[in-house]
Amino acid sequence: LATHPDWQDKIIAEVDALPDAPLDDAGLASMQSADLVLKEALRLLPPVPLIPRRAVRDFEWQGHIISAGTWVSASPGTVMMSPEYWTEPEKFDPDRFGPDRQEDRSHKYAWAPFGGGAHKCIGLHFATMQVKIFLAALLKSHQIELATEAPIDWARVPIPQPKGGLPVVLRKRVQ
Ligand code: HEM
Repeated sequence: LATHPDWQDKIIAEVDALPDAPLDDAGLASMQSADLVLKEALRLLPPVPLIPRRAVRDFEWQGHIISAGTWVSASPGTVMMSPEYWTEPEKFDPDRFGPDRQEDRSHKYAWAPFGGGAHKCIGLHFATMQVKIFLAALLKSHQIELATEAPIDWARVPIPQPKGGLPVVLRKRVQ
């Protein structure tokens, strides 16, 4: 949000439009820019970039023979950066998830920060609620700004984190 103040402003507008009451389902549903931004952040910097598995039997995949017992890894982080499914995948572009484009529908597993299949995250909706509740609480009174001109360099594994700490300033909003 510090790097993309235009999107931060959209979420602040959503937060300001919330009724002065505890955040309920309708309030959460109204935070649509927050939804788009969260989806895009999870695509670009997935907290779980690799999903390890072990082959339970011999199989062949794209010409490679995989023996039973071999460690393999699904890599949603790689698929979510593939130009086969995403327009300009390097670009932060939350609108790609909007109703007009729906790039996440280009393939069943194109957008898979929460995994897929039998073990798909059971906490995905809860996680989304938590992020929105946090954003609503924070952005009601503060805005986030970069504390440095240098671009933030992210380590992607084992989990994403900015390499030099989190160089941001929380500035009290002028209401
Ligand atoms: C942004 C936040 C989160 C991300 C990115 C995330 C990601 C994932 C991923 C990728 C998996 C699949 C792992 C696999 O296939 O081996 C998973 C599974 C799981 N997640 Fe999450 N998760 C998040 C939040 C949560 C929360 C808040 C909860 C609980 C309240 C939760 C509970 C679980 C559980 C129990 C599983 C295992 C499901 C199973 O094996 O059947 N997750 N999560």
